[in-house]
Amino acid sequence: MSKIYIETYGCQMNFADSEIVASLLQKEGYGVTKEIAEADYVLINTCAIRDNAEQRIRKRLRELRAQQQHNPQLRIGILGCMAERLQSQLMVEEENVSFVVGPDAYRRLPELLRQVRTLGVKAAETELSTTETYDDIEPVRLNSNGISAYISIMRGCQNYCAYCVVPYTRGRERSRDPETIVAEARSLWQQGYKEVTLLGQNVNSYRWKDGENTVDFPELMRRVAEVSPRMRVRFATSHPKDLSDKLLEVMASYDNICKCIHLPVQSGSDRMLKLMNRHYDSAWYLDRIAAIRRYMPDCSITTDVIAGFCSETEEEHQMTLEMFSKVRYDYAYMFKFSMRPNTYAEKHLVDDVPDEVKTRRLEEIIALQGQIALENNQQEIGKTYEVLVEGESHRSKEQLFGRNSQNKVIVFDRHDVLPGQYVRVKVVRCTAATLIGELVDA
Ligand code: 5AD
Ligand code: SF4
Repeated sequence: MSKIYIETYGCQMNFADSEIVASLLQKEGYGVTKEIAEADYVLINTCAIRDNAEQRIRKRLRELRAQQQHNPQLRIGILGCMAERLQSQLMVEEENVSFVVGPDAYRRLPELLRQVRTLGVKAAETELSTTETYDDIEPVRLNSNGISAYISIMRGCQNYCAYCVVPYTRGRERSRDPETIVAEARSLWQQGYKEVTLLGQNVNSYRWKDGENTVDFPELMRRVAEVSPRMRVRFATSHPKDLSDKLLEVMASYDNICKCIHLPVQSGSDRMLKLMNRHYDSAWYLDRIAAIRRYMPDCSITTDVIAGFCSETEEEHQMTLEMFSKVRYDYAYMFKFSMRPNTYAEKHLVDDVPDEVKTRRLEEIIALQGQIALENNQQEIGKTYEVLVEGESHRSKEQLFGRNSQNKVIVFDRHDVLPGQYVRVKVVRCTAATLIGELVDA
């Protein structure tokens, strides 16, 4: 039996895709191994969102040359966004790559592997699709803790934010049949999973038409939440322009829908937001934040932000800092702007903020956010939360960690608790990243 080894970089969507790839290949008789030394094929599922993501993959490919010297039969394939972006060009630039497969072409993988092996040729398949959702594929849960799993509910993106390569690497937006989503959630629950995360680039535009009926994202959430009141439901990512009160209402009315919203702000400046083609301004964004707090006062809010987008001035950067001070995020993914080929920004704007200015602005955002996260966590001291236990704490075997509904990590002494259980934990101390608590008798 030929064995494949899959390595995944980038977003949660990519991790979900790798599980589809594993499933597709297992069905064709391939084995999946966690030991690269045993592998006949190494598949690297790649990210193209920033230049440094691609540089990391190129470095990894250089490292893999040593592996190929030990095993000359080893074939390396590139999947995902970088495969789509660079297509067969990637095999010219990186000689040790034998095949390149884009995100909508994974069904062709078994055939491509055969070609590569039996004909000794190189192969690329990067056609994007307007319909592929892999909805009939039951993913093989890779590296799973058996407790939480991803369910991909839609693919692609057509918002065309000026900085973003995703519409070019993942194609048009399409939603997956809700019945297959609910069936997957039910199957996970029956296998003992306690948490599912519904994934899409912009889940708020999920839409499925079935004759007269339309299933939108709030309705889909309701159906998944109904699978079991003891199965937690999370989702990512929301676009602020489409975050509806209807969704907030559904979230508030189910205890098992987690009280956590990831709402990428990108910038606090209205001029930047317009230039980024985000379709909202800071007032709209703050109105959505107010709506979240109105429906769910205990909801945590997280974000993405970009420092130093084209022509960003010092005042505009200050507006981003002000936005962070107003919203007081629980967590933020913070990035320096990286110009990407083919995007609107690359065609029409100039990457004119010097790198040292981007770095300094990013550091200012990181410092402010670190302070806010610590203060937010200090507010948690004394509160008791239901925690879904995920595993052993990284620091000590005597401690376990889990998350509350707000997605905050809580560490506590293990006693006789097991991963997968729900326990009540009272927060007694904290850092900026972690809450430390004590078990409370049920
Ligand atoms: N440069 C920097 N950050 C980017 N992001 C997307 N494109 C770029 C880029 N070209 C960030 C955005 C997005 C997150 C997934 O990555 O903040 O929300
Ligand atoms: Fe995910 Fe975007 Fe990176 Fe593609 S480019 S892997 S969609 S983060």
